[in-house]
Amino acid sequence: MKEKIIKLVFQSACFSELEDQDQELIRNAKNSSNDAYAPYSGFMVGASLLLDNGKIVNANNQENVAYPSGLCAERVGMFYASAEYPNVVINTIAIVAFSKSFEVKDIVSPCGSCRQVMAEYEEKQNKNIKVILYSSDDNIMILDSVKDLLPLLFQMPLLKNH
Ligand code: THU
Repeated sequence: MKEKIIKLVFQSACFSELEDQDQELIRNAKNSSNDAYAPYSGFMVGASLLLDNGKIVNANNQENVAYPSGLCAERVGMFYASAEYPNVVINTIAIVAFSKSFEVKDIVSPCGSCRQVMAEYEEKQNKNIKVILYSSDDNIMILDSVKDLLPLLFQMPLLKNH
């Protein structure tokens, strides 16, 4: 047996160090988090996507009394972008969250299902999606690719050959 290591490389930055475009995307995600429909968790997430055509898609989490029917902000954003702009490359996604009942200082990292969905769009467009994870204590995390967040993701290209 051999031990092997998967390395995660990411950038850490404070808000003022980010490019204007990334700051703008975070502002959008913050605004969007205020409009989340999260009456059950009070956990308000905003996800804003910058597309290659310059458009910004703003999304937030949508909950439901039948809990599993709700959807995270990241998937709302990804599905909306793909529905409205099916052939436009997604450049960047910025993710922001706050809670109505406690302080959220750390980054909020996308759940496994969102990572899988984001990774598939990255694969489809054959171009990395930059992921910006905002933290209110100014330790922002930047990843060059969704795949950095999901090593060993499920991939099965042959499933498309039906
Ligand atoms: N949520 C997101 O929208 N994105 C995440 O990355 C984590 C969790 C939502 C789902 C649910 O509406 C609430 O936050 C609490 O889990």
